[in-house]
Amino acid sequence: MKRIYLDNAATTAIRPEVTEVMMDCIKNIYGNPSSLHTEGRQARALLERARKVIASSIGASIGEIFFTSGGTESNNMALKCAVRDLGVNRIITSKVEHHCVLHSVDTLKAFNNVDVDYVNVDAHGRADLNHLRSLLGSSDKKTLVSLMHANNEIGTLNDIATIGEICKEHKALFHSDTVQTIGHYPINVNAVNINFLSGAAHKFHGPKGVGFIYIKNTNIIKPFIDGGAQERNMRGGTENVSSIAGMAEALKIGLENLEEETRHITDLKNYMEKKLKGIFPDIIINGCPEDSLYTVLNVSFPPHEKSEMLLMLLDISGISISGGSACSSGSEKGSHVIQEIGTPTDYKSIRFSFSHYNTLSDIDETCSTLGSILSPSSNLKTA
Ligand SMILES: Cc1ncc(COP(=O)(O)O)c(C=O)c1O
Repeated sequence: MKRIYLDNAATTAIRPEVTEVMMDCIKNIYGNPSSLHTEGRQARALLERARKVIASSIGASIGEIFFTSGGTESNNMALKCAVRDLGVNRIITSKVEHHCVLHSVDTLKAFNNVDVDYVNVDAHGRADLNHLRSLLGSSDKKTLVSLMHANNEIGTLNDIATIGEICKEHKALFHSDTVQTIGHYPINVNAVNINFLSGAAHKFHGPKGVGFIYIKNTNIIKPFIDGGAQERNMRGGTENVSSIAGMAEALKIGLENLEEETRHITDLKNYMEKKLKGIFPDIIINGCPEDSLYTVLNVSFPPHEKSEMLLMLLDISGISISGGSACSSGSEKGSHVIQEIGTPTDYKSIRFSFSHYNTLSDIDETCSTLGSILSPSSNLKTA
């Protein structure tokens, strides 16, 4: 049975060209990039080429890019180093951030005496910028604002250019979790007043367990992982050379095909939304209608007998979808994002997330499978 994968916000399939680059590196470039001999220098050259590709893709200089193990580490690094090394003693964030931001902030509050304020979000999960201005104006503490570019569960986009300007006016630092948008949107750090941003290769058809952080060169921080002198002393440990090379290749190809793939995926999303509304007139579309990730469609279905088994029944039918963020699936608590935007809790929220590998027939099949699982006649509650 051909499977339909609609969980691309959790992770994406690796592009074949990326696998090729990685396999070539695994087989042939086995030197340690810190070694001075030929094999070491070959690995170093690959690493630095990857850094250049990533830096130039976001308009950064190569000295501003550090490789990490992914989005979680990059976000931890930004928040924790800003507190430890840059004198930050107050963080403003929102309650709809990814858990790696929310839990890092909890830790900083508990162990580093950092004040934490949460900016209000509207019914679409978008940060209230007037509230942000008023929070920033209410204290002279050295503040870091951490607001995500796109929400990984409902897709809502924040206007990071305006947030950057507000931070500049109030002399606050700005970190944005850009894990869902790197490789999917053109991002230029010269057009946004931003101090830290984060990327994870597996969200843009690269390998898992590798990512990067952009740190604006005016922010001088100390090592996040102590050890050797790797990553210009900022992160000890021998670099994951093949994955880093794969990440750069994935980003390069993603950006080269951005327009075409964006158009294709946007069409799929719009098609699915329309089709689902035709089958289920009472669904709620979560997220901002005008300003949302083209890769994510989050839908809440009215209460139904089969709601609790829906993901499993879809999986059995060959369709992979998640209820929200991959890290919280399996937990009984439900989504903190859906709770925050006030969608009725007896509705079942499903995140469909697309890639350029999906087709219209994937969408047709998914909608008709949903139609038969959730048909009124199979709902004992309403029968
Ligand atoms: C918005 C956002 N931030 C951070 C992360 C964590 O990234 P990683 O899985 O690479 O650690 C994710 C992944 O789910 C994400 O969607």
